[in-house]
Amino acid sequence: MDIFNIFFIILTHTFVQETFSTFVAEICKGKLPSKLQAFSVAYDGDDSIYIFGGTGSFFDDKDREVIRRYSISTDRVESFAKFSPNLIYGTAMYNQAGFFYYFGGYEYSASEYFSNKIYQFHPSNKSVNTVGTLLPFRVYESADFQINSSTIYFWGGYGDDRLLFSYNGVTSSITKLRDLPISYNTGTALYDKIGEVAYIFGSEPRQSNNTAAPILTGAPIVEYNPNKDTLKIVYFSNFPGITSYMRASPVSDDKRRVGYIVGGYNSNGTILQVNYTTLHVCNISVQNIPGAENGTVFNRAGTVFVPKLDRIYILGGLLTRFNTTTDLVESTTVLEDIYYIDLRRGQDATETTTAPTTATPTTPTTSIPISADCAKKADGFYPDPDFCKAFFGCLAGKGSDYLCPKELLFDPAKLKCNFPHLVVCNFTCKNKPNGIYADPNPTKCDTFFGCMNGVKNSFKCPNLLVFDRSELRCNYPLFVKC
Ligand SMILES: *[C@@H]1O[C@H](CO)[C@@H](O)[C@H](O)[C@H]1NC(C)=O
Ligand SMILES: *[C@@H]1O[C@H](CO)[C@@H](O)[C@H](O)[C@H]1NC(C)=O
Ligand SMILES: *[C@@H]1O[C@H](CO)[C@@H](O)[C@H](O)[C@H]1NC(C)=O
Ligand SMILES: *[C@@H]1O[C@H](CO)[C@@H](O)[C@H](O)[C@H]1NC(C)=O
Ligand SMILES: *[C@@H]1O[C@H](CO)[C@@H](O)[C@H](O)[C@H]1NC(C)=O
Ligand SMILES: *[C@@H]1O[C@H](CO)[C@@H](O)[C@H](O)[C@H]1NC(C)=O
Ligand SMILES: *[C@@H]1O[C@H](CO)[C@@H](O)[C@H](O)[C@H]1NC(C)=O
Ligand SMILES: *[C@@H]1O[C@H](CO)[C@@H](O)[C@H](O)[C@H]1NC(C)=O
Ligand SMILES: *[C@@H]1O[C@H](CO)[C@@H](O)[C@H](O)[C@H]1NC(C)=O
Repeated sequence: MDIFNIFFIILTHTFVQETFSTFVAEICKGKLPSKLQAFSVAYDGDDSIYIFGGTGSFFDDKDREVIRRYSISTDRVESFAKFSPNLIYGTAMYNQAGFFYYFGGYEYSASEYFSNKIYQFHPSNKSVNTVGTLLPFRVYESADFQINSSTIYFWGGYGDDRLLFSYNGVTSSITKLRDLPISYNTGTALYDKIGEVAYIFGSEPRQSNNTAAPILTGAPIVEYNPNKDTLKIVYFSNFPGITSYMRASPVSDDKRRVGYIVGGYNSNGTILQVNYTTLHVCNISVQNIPGAENGTVFNRAGTVFVPKLDRIYILGGLLTRFNTTTDLVESTTVLEDIYYIDLRRGQDATETTTAPTTATPTTPTTSIPISADCAKKADGFYPDPDFCKAFFGCLAGKGSDYLCPKELLFDPAKLKCNFPHLVVCNFTCKNKPNGIYADPNPTKCDTFFGCMNGVKNSFKCPNLLVFDRSELRCNYPLFVKC
């Protein structure tokens, strides 16, 4: 170990233990055209989130007749295709073959109210066609999951609150599988693709052969294996359960093998992460997410996981306010906002809840400017003016480059790595040739600067693009590690 490393470890050993969360629900510029609930969303795996039907307030006819498209890259919502019936509460799903299904729901204008239809929607020509019927079953606020391009499973929800059946898209046939041992008031499901099991849960679980039975305590969940048609009752540890008549919005992250549950419980500004290996639930604080106030439950939002951006998108939804004394509903607010939670940011935060005690010296790479101009410098550590994570040390006229560990930045005032909110990390054009420069603050992913004769101009990458430090231009987040 050279003298730098010893010096370094001593310097960095004084970190304060501190925990903080950097999970944020970023509000998008794009908004739903009006306050919207009771819709269903489905993602095409690329840039489009389609929003099927929905309504503002309950028996309000407007807004139910269209399929809307939210473009992730342009951050805009457009009215995309005519969706002839007035449908709410059905289920939309993307078929990997490039089209969408919409199942069931509630058709306000129809005499029988429940819709039995299965629609196919082709974005390529905007056509919506009836392709089958769900009869004799119903799908309404159901818990559903898709295991492959042809097979979708439903727990019928409010319509058929104990029944599990499947739909085969190739043969357009419905098959009753079994009755579940539990019925829920509102249902939802998470599917673990690797473990090949679904977790079906919801509010007010009761023994399903006795609808008058008291609510089962401890939030029981049905674990169902569709390939073996086997089921068992499981419990997620640390799961608060879904509040009566509220509905959670789930998404699965296949790569990390976890599910996220957005809303449906008195969330206090959190979302839940279910680890499919352990069935343990972590509650993750998310700044700015609806439902942070005690006594409010955020529910019925549309949620989509976008793997290529590592983001959870959250659209619309309903905020229900309870009187914390009487537990009665006091008011409901329908939302029109679209948010996303960047899981990459959060992942860093999770890793760094414990302050590190040592930093790792690094060999400089092309993305870390080599700043060690030590010839005329006194022994000691110096900040890298172009990248606040980096610093260099001088000893007897010779230099070495270092990077602060995890999300820490080099604090020029204290001459040690420190938490970002305690470090001033600002760009300056002083002593810089004219040109384009990356933001020295590594947490600022979409800003960059131009220097012209020592004068600074700030820029922001458009839409969802981020600044690519190696290419000195805006680029798709997919290609940039930020
Ligand atoms: C739209 O495109 C799909 C798939 O290409 C096709 O099956 C369907 O018939 C088309 N519908 C209309 C109305 O053209
Ligand atoms: C209800 O179902 C449970 C198992 O799911 C069974 O043990 C119980 O006997 C049933 N009760 C009645 C009244 O059928
Ligand atoms: C989808 O899964 C079902 C049930 O396991 C199976 O019968 C079917 O062959 C699968 N289809 C495809 C296309 O993989
Ligand atoms: C989060 O989890 C902790 C312990 O695991 C628990 O005490 C707390 O009540 C939870 N908060 C919410 C909002 O669920
Ligand atoms: C709600 O969140 C705050 C801030 O994260 C925390 O201090 C408090 O203990 C939480 N309350 C409950 C009931 O979980
Ligand atoms: C889930 O739990 C397993 C077993 O403890 C662990 O190895 C894995 O890292 C956890 N997954 C996540 C995403 O935290
Ligand atoms: C909650 O209900 C109680 C009893 O009806 C009432 O006195 C109180 O004002 C209510 N709280 C709020 C915040 O409205
Ligand atoms: C939230 O309200 C519940 C119900 O009145 C109460 O028991 C709890 O202490 C409150 N939590 C906070 C953090 O205020
Ligand atoms: C650094 O930037 C922040 C935010 O733009 C600004 O408030 C602050 O005054 C700047 N500090 C210095 C020393 O330039």
